[in-house]
Amino acid sequence: MIYKIIKFANPVLRRKGALVTEFKDELKELAADMVETMHDAEGIGLAAQQIGKAIRLCVIDIPERADKDDEGVSLHPDVTMPLVLVNPEVMAHSEEREPYEEGCLSFPEITGNVVRPVEVTVRFQDVSGAEQEVGARGMLARCMQHEIDHLNGVLYIDRMSNVKRVTLSGKLKRLKKQTELES
Ligand code: NI
Repeated sequence: MIYKIIKFANPVLRRKGALVTEFKDELKELAADMVETMHDAEGIGLAAQQIGKAIRLCVIDIPERADKDDEGVSLHPDVTMPLVLVNPEVMAHSEEREPYEEGCLSFPEITGNVVRPVEVTVRFQDVSGAEQEVGARGMLARCMQHEIDHLNGVLYIDRMSNVKRVTLSGKLKRLKKQTELES
């Protein structure tokens, strides 16, 4: 089932997600529907808030070609996509940070540089409730940080420079108005 993607400035995007405590078939179904919704929208990540549910669940699917280092070697040979993260937390991150132009399915056609740690260690549960840990760099590290932010009600615009936010203010106002009209 494909969900409608919630756009800025619907208040659910600002809600902190509740911890997932039940690992039943409903959760597997919801995760599968989120993957389907993300693929349909041609995104690489989707958080539950973006389909109107404030719970700690997100999905990620990064194409293999975008997940290689400069020599063309796969950065995450052990990670199987799509990735479903339940109750994910960043446990550790590198001191080294870098900017990257991010987009978000809740902000159509709006991109901007966000500075984030290059490497992170993320602990999460899979759809069965089993504890997992992944150390990531590159696109996966970035995407996990963006999605975990969503689960905390934090949006990528919050992490952009003030100058960039001023530049985007007209577009954001228009998107907010459009979202209000549709809801
Ligand atoms: Ni996003």
